[in-house]
Amino acid sequence: MKEPFVCFSVVFLGVRLIMASDTIAINCTKAVIKGKYGSSVILPCWLTSEMNAESLEIRWYRPDQFSSPLLFYQNHKIITKYQDTYRNRSSLTARNPQSAGLKQGDVSLRLDNLGLQDIGVFHCYVSGDKSYNDNTVKLNVTALGSLPFLSLKYYHDSVNVSCSSCGWFPQPSLMWKSTSEKGDALSDPQSLIYSEQENGLFCIYSWVILSSSDSNLISCSVTLSEDEKRIVSMDLGARLSVDNSGVWKILFTLALLCVLALVGTGLFLYRKHKSEYEKVNSAEPVGEQPKDTNLKDLRKAAVTITFDMETCNKEYLRFNSQGDVVRDNAADKYKGLGFPYELCKMASVLTPSQKSHFS
Ligand SMILES: *[C@@H]1O[C@H](CO)[C@@H](O)[C@H](O)[C@H]1NC(C)=O
Ligand SMILES: *[C@@H]1O[C@H](CO)[C@@H](O)[C@H](O)[C@H]1NC(C)=O
Ligand SMILES: *[C@@H]1O[C@H](CO)[C@@H](O)[C@H](O)[C@H]1NC(C)=O
Ligand SMILES: *[C@@H]1O[C@H](CO)[C@@H](O)[C@H](O)[C@H]1NC(C)=O
Repeated sequence: MKEPFVCFSVVFLGVRLIMASDTIAINCTKAVIKGKYGSSVILPCWLTSEMNAESLEIRWYRPDQFSSPLLFYQNHKIITKYQDTYRNRSSLTARNPQSAGLKQGDVSLRLDNLGLQDIGVFHCYVSGDKSYNDNTVKLNVTALGSLPFLSLKYYHDSVNVSCSSCGWFPQPSLMWKSTSEKGDALSDPQSLIYSEQENGLFCIYSWVILSSSDSNLISCSVTLSEDEKRIVSMDLGARLSVDNSGVWKILFTLALLCVLALVGTGLFLYRKHKSEYEKVNSAEPVGEQPKDTNLKDLRKAAVTITFDMETCNKEYLRFNSQGDVVRDNAADKYKGLGFPYELCKMASVLTPSQKSHFS
């Protein structure tokens, strides 16, 4: 009855002895590896004896998928006929710059373009001629979403501020903060709406009603963890004053347009009046006025006329004490007929250089 037991023990011991001489033991990072959605990550595993792994068989596989590994290394090369989803984004790599790679027993896996399907456990299985072993690494993938987008809707004395952001994993939390003269206030997001995108990432949406008079700075922060968050803030006060200045700009422009219109009309009427006057004037026999009267040229030829007040008809003309400023006192009588030259007989002409008399 003892023979089978003795036999079993001998075989067992023999196997133990063989394994001890060439045992494969795998050490993997125990902490959960954290990767970012769409980026790359290294899952570090290495043989504890630092034995050369180049001639060993290395199989990286997901749980329950031993027969379809995501990476299979055999006979010194990677066999690519397995899992399509990992074919172009998995490779063997050195776990750090000091590592000499497979030569030194480093069997770490590099994954690129991480997706949500990569979250979870990865098995690393290494086998030699006489021994094999298996160990696991855990991977977690997070996705940092887009910068939150704030939009405003103004009512009489309040403003409805909404905040939205997409591309998160897992579901983020959202927090409102408003800063006013009374101090900082945290608002509970009563309206918190999650939705799932086609790729499995999350969108978050929330809104708050604030009194537009006492809220200055409003911020919306969407958070996964302490170092995975996105915050956007907006100065409501500045926005309000920008809106006001917009109104003032419009009012100012309207006022300016009115003034310009008035000036334009005035100029038009003046021109019309002046040309009528000139038409009448040019019909006078006294002097032929050139058709294009240049006011500058006229000013160059200006002379000062001093009237002989004794001989002037004071009924129709008014003078100052020097006799060199004259006003028409008979506007009604001579209306439209030009200057009543017959009203005076004697006057002196004063130019800058000379002084002469004419009559
Ligand atoms: C396995 O890894 C742990 C932690 O990195 C380390 O303390 C331990 O010495 C390693 N064992 C071997 C045999 O390399
Ligand atoms: C892997 O890359 C090759 C060439 O770069 C390409 O032809 C093939 O479609 C890719 N396979 C997958 C699953 O992306
Ligand atoms: C993955 O990371 C997120 C964010 O840090 C955390 O909430 C979640 O519990 C983690 N999942 C696992 C499986 O570790
Ligand atoms: C605030 O605006 C959002 C849309 O931007 C709307 O769904 C919500 O009902 C509004 N809240 C109030 C109280 O009007």
